[in-house]
Formats: sequence, C-alpha cells, structure tokens
Amino acid sequence: MKYKRKGIVLAGGYGTRLSPITHAKSKQLIPIYDKPMIYYPISTLMLAGINEILLITTPSEKESFKKLLGNGNQWGINIEYAVQDKPGGIAQAFLIAEDFIDKNPVCLILGDNLFHGDKLGEKLTKSSLNYNDAIIFGYKVSDPQRYGVITFDQNKKVIKIEEKPLIAKSPYVVTGIYFYDCDVVNMAKLLKPSKRNELEITDLNNLYLKEKRLKVEILGRGMVWLDTGTFESLYEANTYVHTIQKRQGNIICCPEEIAYRSNWITLNELKFLGKNFMKSEYGKYLLNLE
Ligand code: TTP
Repeated sequence: MKYKRKGIVLAGGYGTRLSPITHAKSKQLIPIYDKPMIYYPISTLMLAGINEILLITTPSEKESFKKLLGNGNQWGINIEYAVQDKPGGIAQAFLIAEDFIDKNPVCLILGDNLFHGDKLGEKLTKSSLNYNDAIIFGYKVSDPQRYGVITFDQNKKVIKIEEKPLIAKSPYVVTGIYFYDCDVVNMAKLLKPSKRNELEITDLNNLYLKEKRLKVEILGRGMVWLDTGTFESLYEANTYVHTIQKRQGNIICCPEEIAYRSNWITLNELKFLGKNFMKSEYGKYLLNLE
C-alpha cells in the first residue's frame, strides 16, 4: 500500500461546559457508561482500519492518557502522543501533527464524539482509502446552530459551511470525523485565526470546498452520532450505550474486540487483556468473546 493508515484523536480543550467534572480531569478521560470517553473515538478509527494514531492532549493530562492507553501495542496498533498548549482550534491539530502525518492522508476525529451504526466501519474504511479528496460527513440534527452548518443550493450541491450561525440554513451539520488528503498540512498553514482566535476546521473545509476537493457524505438517520460536551449530551450518551449494550449483550466501541476481529491481536492476547479486568463486566465480556 502506498500510504500509511494514520489518524489523529484531538483530546485537548478546556471542557468548560462540563465544569466542575473537568476541573481536575480531562473530559475525554471521564466515562461514558463502562469505559473512558477516549475509547470511543479510538475504536472508531480502528473500525476504519487505522492503526497508527496520534493522540493530542493538554500538557497536564498527557501522562494520564499514557497510563491508560500506553503505546497501543496491546491492541495491535501504535499510539503516539503530542500536546496542544492551549485550545487554538481544531485545525491546529494538523500543524501539531505535521511530523506524524509525514505527507500521508489522515483522518481526524474529535475526542468527545461517539459514532455507532450498522456498516459504519465499512463506510469509514472506504473513506479512509480515498486519497484524492477531503471527505466530511453531514448529519441531520435538531439544533444545527451549535455546529458547522452545511448550506446546499437547489440541486443539493454543497455551497458553504457556516460555523455556528445565528440562523441555520439547513438541519445538516458537519460531524467530528474528517478525512483529508496528503495536502492537509499545507492547507492548514494557509488558515488565519478566527474572531475567537482559533484555527477553524470549518475554514479548512471551506478551503477544500473552494478548490472542489471536498466531498460531503450524509450519514443517514440509522447512524448514531453523539457528542458529549454538555451534562445533557453526556447523560444521553451514557443512557444510549447502556440501553443498547443491555439489549444486545454487545459492547459498543470496545478496542480489544475490534483489534481481535481485525486480526491485529490473537484470541490468546485478547484473553490476556480480559484477565486484567476479570472483576468487571467489561473484562468478563472480553473473556467470553470467541
Ligand atoms: P469543544 O467541545 O468545542 O471544546 P471543549 O472540549 O474545550 O469544551 P468546552 O466548549 O466545554 O470548553 O471541542 C470539541 C473537541 O475538540 C473536544 O474533544 C476538545 C477538542 N478540542 C481540542 O482538543 N483543541 C481545541 O483547540 C478545540 C477547539 C477543541
């Protein structure tokens, strides 16, 4: 294969909307039901077939993430770490990750986003293997003005993305997973800080759009996309994961299981991981997989 399968998880930020939970702990380390939030975006990258991951954290929390995730080899992947000194915007991730990206195409996922749905892995794998364009995903929500809103013309062609507009021109917004070609670092270097002093991912996407290099795919209503940045959304995500897992007996976004099913670790290695957590339902689940 010409290119490496690289992904970035952006897990910095202040998490101010979740204070005091986030006063002494990074948002992405708090749990969503039975596992730390960071397991969800990492699992999503793994489902897309990505096995080289850069985790961008705050300086103070890097060691906690390392303690939790190590170098990723236990899951048959590689995890490296970088820090973002201050939250300078989502697109800043590409400047921080320049050496890691090393001119490969790359996927970026936000550390507080949860994706779940039938054939999600297939869809994302296909996107991650398209090296010619940037691909982002649109999703219909009831509160679009909180996000980057996609504007379409009469022929349903995307004409613009507007960051947190007062009045949303459509209910479709950009989700927190983005695939870019190997030009992304150069494109990110063209960005200027916005009024809120951030390098905006929406500006980067509009640059790609202007050059006719942006594909917007719609994630249908059968897919689930949740972000977990407020008390309400965090609670909803907990409830969602609990409800589905209880009903099906399957664990959502379990990196050990994805690693095993991707043939990145053996059954013996999976059982070894399960033994570490023998007393929790999570560990028992791993021990029972076959
Ligand atoms: P946000 O939810 O926009 O920001 P936040 O996590 O700091 O939360 P709050 O608004 O409550 O203060 O960020 C979305 C995700 O992107 C989240 O996982 C944090 C991450 N992020 C960074 O790591 N660095 C940044 O500069 C920004 C803007 C976000």
